[in-house]
This record gives sequence, C-alpha cells and structure tokens, in this order.
Amino acid sequence: MAVTGSGATLWHALGMGPLWRERAAAPSPARSGMQATAQLDWDGLEQAVAACTACVLCRTRTQTVFGVGSRNATWMFIGEAPGAEEDARGEPFVGQAGRLLDNMLAAAGLGRECTGEKAVYIANVLKCRPPGNRNPEAAEVAACAPFLQRQIELLQPRIIVVMGRFATQALLVTDASIASLRGRVHEISIGARRYPVVVTYHPAYLLRNLADKSKSWDDMCLARACYARLVPTPADTPFSASSGTTPP
Ligand code: URA
Repeated sequence: MAVTGSGATLWHALGMGPLWRERAAAPSPARSGMQATAQLDWDGLEQAVAACTACVLCRTRTQTVFGVGSRNATWMFIGEAPGAEEDARGEPFVGQAGRLLDNMLAAAGLGRECTGEKAVYIANVLKCRPPGNRNPEAAEVAACAPFLQRQIELLQPRIIVVMGRFATQALLVTDASIASLRGRVHEISIGARRYPVVVTYHPAYLLRNLADKSKSWDDMCLARACYARLVPTPADTPFSASSGTTPP
C-alpha cells in the first residue's frame, strides 16, 4: 500500500521508512534535527522543544506544549496538537476534550497525576498550536517528528494509545480510517524496540459523537488487556509481544 500525506512524512522523519529510500534522500532539516535530538535527555528535549523554530508554528504559538505525566509511565497517550487552552497553559489536553480524557483515564484506573502502573504520559504529535486549530501540515509534522520519537524512546512505554485520525494515521503510517483500525493491537518500531499501539477516537470527536463513547471504552479495555499480557523487559531489549496486528 502506498503511504502518502502527513503519515508518510512522520514515518520517514522518524527513520522508520525502508532503508533504500532513506539512503537515496538528501538530508532534510528534520532528519538532521533528529540526529541531534536523539542524544537528549528529558530536560534537554523539553528545552529543545521550547526553543524550536523549525516550522512556521513557532511564530503564532504562545508557548510550546511538551507533554505531561510521569516520565516513568508505562502508558503513553498521543493526541494531535495543542488547542487554544493548551497553548495558553502549556499542557496537553486541559480543555473540554482533556476533561473527557481525564474521566476516561480515571475510569480505567489511570491518571496524569498517578504513579506506578497507573501513571500515564500524554503528548501530541505537534508541540505547537496550529492557528485556528487547523489541521497540521506535513512539513510541521516532519519538523516535530524527532521530538515525539525521542519522547517515545525516553519513556519506552509498555503501550501506546493513539487518539484520533490524525495521530493514528501519522503513527501507523496509513490513510485508513479509525473505524477500520480499531479493535486490534498494532505495532510500531522505533530504534531497536517495538511498541504495541491501540487506536481510539479523539476525545474532541467523542464530545460531538456521544454514541461512540462506548466504542472508546472498548478500546481502553483492549489496551488494558494488551498491557496485562505484556511482560516488562530489561531496558535495552525489545519487549516480547506477538508480532503484527493481533487481538489480545
Ligand atoms: N487536542 C489534542 O489533540 N491535543 C491537545 O493537547 C488538546 C486537544
């Protein structure tokens, strides 16, 4: 299947594309940014994000929105981009959609303030707000991709939940719909590690489509079942999970 659009851009910026394509490509700003970013620890990464001027969004943001939650969390939730309230407060998912997300997390026994196995880390594909909440551009995704990659590498979550069409298509490198991707566990590779990925609706979508809330709960249950099935592995080895996209 041909990979197109912002998903393809993220994939290649993360260095996850086929090798022959990577070797043929001229080094891009996003790619060289990734090499520098790959060395950073959490604090260095947060500073690099705060200082980033790699795309036009730096001109209109109030501040960058790095991520929130425990840096030891085993759960990672990924959304699209900051909205107006996130841009004002510097924290992801603090508006109405964020309150719904917090309620859903609490129902699953998780939370951004929690520790241990209840702890989550929440980040977005983009660290700056697109003006007027427009859709992210491919160039913006490519510029930001090294930051999300490094967040995943530093966190090494046991499971990733992607929320909404944009984050899903970017992380899974697909143009497929959320409806067709829900209900099974996907997998992405970053560096030597593989990560299970569960797809669900964006909380902002659920606010407009209440009937799909129960499907979102099903997704959370799928993620919990997958999480329970996985055994933590030593820090420098890929976790052992069944390959491909499988039900728990
Ligand atoms: N929507 C997102 O995708 N992320 C946020 O942080 C807020 C709203």
